[in-house]
Amino acid sequence: MIARALPIPAYTQEIIEGLTSPRKALPCKLFYDELGSTLFEEITRLPEYYLTRTELEILETSSQEIVRTAGSPAAVVELGAGTARKTATLLAAIVRRQIAVKYLPVDISPSALGEAKRRISAEVPGALVRPVVADFGQGFGFLGELPSPKLVLYLGSSIGNFDLSDAIAMLRAVRRQLLPGDCLLLGTDMVKSPAILLPAYDDARGITAEFNRNVLRRINREFGANFDLDSFRHLALWNKAGSRMEIYLESSRPQKVTLKLTGTVVEFGNRERVHTENSYKYNRSMILNMLSDSGFTLAKSWFDSRKWFGLHLARA
Ligand SMILES: C[S@@+](CC[C@H](N)C(=O)[O-])C[C@H]1O[C@@H](n2cnc3c(N)ncnc32)[C@H](O)[C@@H]1O
Repeated sequence: MIARALPIPAYTQEIIEGLTSPRKALPCKLFYDELGSTLFEEITRLPEYYLTRTELEILETSSQEIVRTAGSPAAVVELGAGTARKTATLLAAIVRRQIAVKYLPVDISPSALGEAKRRISAEVPGALVRPVVADFGQGFGFLGELPSPKLVLYLGSSIGNFDLSDAIAMLRAVRRQLLPGDCLLLGTDMVKSPAILLPAYDDARGITAEFNRNVLRRINREFGANFDLDSFRHLALWNKAGSRMEIYLESSRPQKVTLKLTGTVVEFGNRERVHTENSYKYNRSMILNMLSDSGFTLAKSWFDSRKWFGLHLARA
């Protein structure tokens, strides 16, 4: 029986609450199983997905200055590192000044971290790579155990997945584990025309749609559920008042889905949506407020030539 064979995942309660609430929602951390991490990597190479390319451009242009401003870190911790595709540039700039550095990529996805370790070990021989599999929901205690000065990276505009108050709570929790003088390098996507934003989250090849629907595939596998993936449409909407992209899966018909593991039956109306992700887009005052409300002082920001993406170095 499936109900007995499957282990109970740690996030079971979040999923059941999300699917049975009047406004259905799923946590976006669920995207990143092995297939999800691979699909995300594919997204970062799509012509429409300007974020990774633009952030990398800033790092390639400004890593030396960023590292000079940050000082010489004994440890670099990257939150939500994924496969760490952009990080080699920054680590290379650090080891040019100080021979070696400890690099701790932290992520919920073990497969992405495996790739990060291979990549950084090959590209930056002076980096001592120690991956940490962790869910941020469990806190940032591991930061307190590392030597200072520390440089914490949070790139890819991953902060944008949090509502503003949750983003501040998350950054405060990070700040509590840091000592004065430790630094945070935060990557943020900036507000821009929906003509650029919408295709970035709904590409012509449908890879982002596949990434979004993979959440249902994962629930089918881990909870013995029977989601029919073809009956859920990927939706990407720009919410101007909320300054965020909103991502949904929309049921194309009334239907019932059963999660055998928990015995939960979820009913969907025609065109009923499940909210799977927000991606906030920032302006400078939002960034300044977010950093100061969480106990950081902005030292300097770097932008690409179009001002589409920003990297902000802040001191604890
Ligand atoms: C948008 S991707 C960014 C990846 C990479 N930093 C980049 O810039 O391309 C978000 C990353 O955060 C990780 N992640 C999401 N939720 C997490 C959580 N609750 N705890 C730890 N890692 C998480 C995902 O596995 C994924 O690798």
